[in-house]
Amino acid sequence: MDYRAEIQKLKSEKDVAILAHYYAEGAIQDLADYVGDSFYLAKMGQQVSQKNILLAGVVFMAESVKILNPEKTVLVPDLMAGCSLVDGAPYDKYLAWRRQHPDALCMTYINSSAEVKSISDVIITSSNAAQILESIPRERHILFGPDQHLGQWLSKKTGREMIFWPGACQVHILFNADRLRQLIAEQPDALVIAHPECDDEILKYASVIGATSKLLTEVETNKNYKKFIVATETGIFHEMQKRRPDAELIQAPVVDQNCLCNDCPFMKMNTVEKIYHALKTFKPEVSVPEELRLKAFIALDRMMKITAGHSVTWPDLFQG
Ligand code: 13P
Ligand code: SF4
Repeated sequence: MDYRAEIQKLKSEKDVAILAHYYAEGAIQDLADYVGDSFYLAKMGQQVSQKNILLAGVVFMAESVKILNPEKTVLVPDLMAGCSLVDGAPYDKYLAWRRQHPDALCMTYINSSAEVKSISDVIITSSNAAQILESIPRERHILFGPDQHLGQWLSKKTGREMIFWPGACQVHILFNADRLRQLIAEQPDALVIAHPECDDEILKYASVIGATSKLLTEVETNKNYKKFIVATETGIFHEMQKRRPDAELIQAPVVDQNCLCNDCPFMKMNTVEKIYHALKTFKPEVSVPEELRLKAFIALDRMMKITAGHSVTWPDLFQG
């Protein structure tokens, strides 16, 4: 079957927009209507005119779209496409942590469950984290979770102290600093760029650190370099190479040379065939119970408002 043609047909018949993350495989990025980082996908979820959305990324991204757009049907190719950061921050433990610091504001990475979002004050992504932190009054204490590496990078960048939840991305922590140092010595004309989910041992070698969209723009626009050592998930190479066909892209080395460790196993659960089936059957659909959605909406909506330049108010105490 020509899945690509069938998908295009079903998409228009059923009024569906396909949104894909840069870590989805190249063939999926090529058939999507919009491809982007996690913030862009949340924003496009609000802007597309189609009544229905299929999100080829991971489930927390689709849940965020649903929380912001309850009137839309949000489909995913595979409901098992989770995330190690979500798994590492269970609701009851996150709640107990919050309760230990009732006067602090809780900034939570979008890579979290709807339940965890519902007990957070604001959501951030790696592309807007600094802007959102700036909007929080300096005298407020801040809890940051669930990615400790993103939090520590942010804290260094802004000079703000925070209390961190000890979570990590299982993909980004697998880069190896000794082997990276060796590679840099072998490739002195390459620029190292990294996602802030990498740990500090890797980030200290990176000249540019940022969300997937920022790394992509760097490769596209920095014509001083023709070689880039890239410390993030492999899916991004597809679009990077398209935008800079002349550039040599080198994957930063991982712990085990022979493993496919920098393929996110959750992102790679998305396949063209599953997208076809999801469009055909209109399943699986992401659902968030309304009471939970309304609570999670508050923190996500604060993120959208701050990022759009609006001011917001902050609660004095955690009431949960
Ligand atoms: P971005 O916000 O950069 O898209 O990152 C999402 C993610 O899951 C990185 O591992
Ligand atoms: Fe989660 Fe890491 Fe996969 Fe991103 S790359 S979805 S943070 S497991």
